[in-house]
Amino acid sequence: MEKKEFAFSYEVYPSAHDLPAEESALLHQARSATALSYAPYSRFRVGAAARLRNGEVLTGSNQENASFPAGLCAERVLLAAAASRYPGVAVELMAISYRNENGASQWPISPCGICRQALQENEQRDGIPIRLVLGGLEGPVYVIEAASHLLPLAFTSRELI
Ligand code: THU
Repeated sequence: MEKKEFAFSYEVYPSAHDLPAEESALLHQARSATALSYAPYSRFRVGAAARLRNGEVLTGSNQENASFPAGLCAERVLLAAAASRYPGVAVELMAISYRNENGASQWPISPCGICRQALQENEQRDGIPIRLVLGGLEGPVYVIEAASHLLPLAFTSRELI
């Protein structure tokens, strides 16, 4: 028997002001994108912003549905928009923010399990990691160098072939 371990480190910044300029700007765009959310059921508005390898920045937000499982998270809306608008152009950096039904948020959220799966496939497809910047409207910000760190022992296309 052999014991293995998975560990990763991430950066914690006291606030968005302490981030490098580009990451701070992208987090602000993610915060703004929460206004474009369609979340009449959960009233939980998520915004995401991505910088692509060609320098373009795109945003996404969660889009809910009366048939609840048909709703989409901001991260997957954004990944699909990026792949549709700029096919073959890698996503390098993604910021994610949110506001609760009181319009506030004070700490980071991290992507749900399905979005972790989608992010990891996107990394594999593009062949580069997606750096994540996670923060509320206020409070600390986490920076994770690869989205796939959040999904150890992932199920991937390698198993399907
Ligand atoms: N949601 C996201 O958009 N991203 C996440 O990472 C977590 C959850 C959305 C889904 C749903 O519309 C609402 O937030 C509440 O779960």
